[in-house]
This record gives sequence, structure tokens and C-alpha cells, in this order.
Amino acid sequence: MDILAIESSCDDTAVAIVRDGREVLASEVFSQTKRHEIFGGVVPEVASRCHLEAIAGLAKVTLEESGLKKENLSAVAVTYAPGLIGSLLVGVSFAKGISLALDLPLIAVHHLKSHVAANYISNKNLKPPFICLIASGGHTNIVEVKSYTEMRTIGKTRDDAAGETFDKAARCMGVAYPGGVHIDKLAQKGDEDAFEFPIPNVKDSAYDFSFSGLKTSVINKIHTLKQKNIDIPLEDICASLRKSIVSYMVNNLTEAAKQLHYKKIAIAGGVSANSLLRRELRRICDKSGWELFLPDLKFCSDNAAMVGSQGYYEFTCGGNTSGLDLNAYAGMSLN
Ligand code: KG4
Ligand code: ZN
Repeated sequence: MDILAIESSCDDTAVAIVRDGREVLASEVFSQTKRHEIFGGVVPEVASRCHLEAIAGLAKVTLEESGLKKENLSAVAVTYAPGLIGSLLVGVSFAKGISLALDLPLIAVHHLKSHVAANYISNKNLKPPFICLIASGGHTNIVEVKSYTEMRTIGKTRDDAAGETFDKAARCMGVAYPGGVHIDKLAQKGDEDAFEFPIPNVKDSAYDFSFSGLKTSVINKIHTLKQKNIDIPLEDICASLRKSIVSYMVNNLTEAAKQLHYKKIAIAGGVSANSLLRRELRRICDKSGWELFLPDLKFCSDNAAMVGSQGYYEFTCGGNTSGLDLNAYAGMSLN
């Protein structure tokens, strides 16, 4: 089954063609980073307009690259929630047009479920059940992946997400957007014990997160140094911040795995590209005899291949198709 997949939930326009949920025939991402860089973050209206300009041409190129003809496609899958509403609407409208014109089933895909599915592409032998940390610009969730289509959130952030914390700290330090990537690089040369940032325990849930105190503490530290005219030790701050965020996520994830008896662990979302996170989990999983599944770096951040993978399972395991009245939603929980 060859699925044309579309992703436009934030600031990347992406189209892919995926065979049977696991084999990527073509995957293209048109990044808008350059358009948002000067603002230090994504400007929603600019993002929607960029999607509108890029999506049809990108679909044409992706189809050509796959070697398929449009008549060969079996279905069209699209991210419909959660995300920036103007951005989502562009992808959903385009997918509906394709579905109508080619008479193809339309499959609506939840953005976070698709991040998890990136693991099916990179790890051909991975099957649910497993436990997964989804960490992106807007979300930090620990989920039980019970089947290809059913997930249960057991921990989530009460305020900011891990990626957002990286991005805001980066902006304050004058580090380029998106901050997580650059902080990860700068951290490699820094002393991770140079600064201590607070890691809170969230009341009433062992696996929930709160990043707002950590974010404020880093920002305050940077402001204090600036006020005193002291050069900001960028690499040390980046290394200390990365260590705090990563150990927080690793602790909650491994604790959840222990308590709920999971021996298969995966990570997903933009922040799953973090080199320390990957290294730390590898070390712990090797020591504990747990299997660790990582998405390839190119499938960590937003892409459409993961939408094609999840779309395949929504269709084949859940029979989940949508009508032409499908809408997009800015917010939607996983379960
Ligand atoms: O999943 P994603 O591409 O988009 C959303 O759905 O939000 O995630 C983007 C987030 C950004 O906050 C970015 O700074 C972060 O992922 N990110 C990283 C790394 N690469 C991207 N954070 C930490 N380390 C990285 N290497
Ligand atoms: Zn995402």
C-alpha cells in the first residue's frame, strides 16, 4: 500500500510516499527556518503562507522522486491535529483535494502519533507495546504505546515543553533558532557542571514534567551576567542546561519503564535528536538489558514519512478513514 503523506503542523512543509508503513519511497521537507529566524521563533501567519506557496510543488517533486504515478497511490494521509491551526488547514485542504481528485481514502493522523511512528521506519522490527518519550517544541509526553493506534499518556508537561525551553534559552543568549540544535552543538565544548538549574518534582504524578522554573532560572542567570557586563559563558550554560533537561527526561522515562515493566523504550520528536539524550539512554538501556529504539536523525523533527507510516496503521489496524468534512484542530490530546 503506497500512501501519499502530508505534514504542515508547524513551520516545515513536508510530503512523503511510504510503502506499507515502513519503506520510504520519497520524503521531502521544505524548511521555513530562514523565514522565521529573524523573529527568533515561528510566526504563525508567515508559516501558513509559506505552506500555501510550497505544498503543491513539493507534492509534485516528491511523486516524481518516488518513481510512482499518481494513479498508483493507495491513500492520502495528513496531519490534522495538534499544531498551528492556519498551518494545519493548508495541509488538510490540500489532502482533501487530492483525495477527491484521485478518489483515494483520506486518513487523518495525530501529530504525536506520527512522531512515534518515525520509529517504525528506522527500526523495522519494532512492534507495540513499548514506552515512548515524545519531546518536541510543543510537547513533552511519556506514553504507553499499547498498539499501533492506541496510546496512553502517563506523563506530560504541566507548562513549557523541553524543546521550547531550549528555544527560549537560546533566544535569550542570542543563539540561532531553532535553539535545541545549536545548544546541543555548543554544549559539546562546555562544562555541564558549571551551573546548577532546578529540576522540580511535580506533585501527584511521578512522570509529569514542569520546565517553567528551569526556563526562568536559565533566563535569570543570563540576564544577571549581562547586567554585570560579564561575558556569557555560552558553552557552559548550554552544557549545564542540556544536562538538566536530559537527566529530567531520562529519569522520568526510565522510572516509568521500571514501574510499568516495559523493556522496550523509544523516543520521538525534535528533541529526540539530542546527542546527550541518545547517549544517556543507550548507556542505561545497555546496563539494564532494555531494548532502545531511536528514530534516524532525519525523522526526529517534523517530516511526512512518519505521517505515512502512522497513516498506514490507522488504515490497516484501525480502519480509520475520514470524510471530506475532515477539519483541523489546534489542540487534541492523544487519548
Ligand atoms: O518535533 P519538532 O520538529 O516540531 C514540533 O512538533 O514541535 O521539534 C522541534 C523542537 C525544537 O524546539 C528544537 O529546538 C528541538 O526540537 N530540537 C532539539 C534538537 N534538535 C531539534 N532539541 C535538543 N537537541 C537537539 N539536537
Ligand atoms: Zn513535531
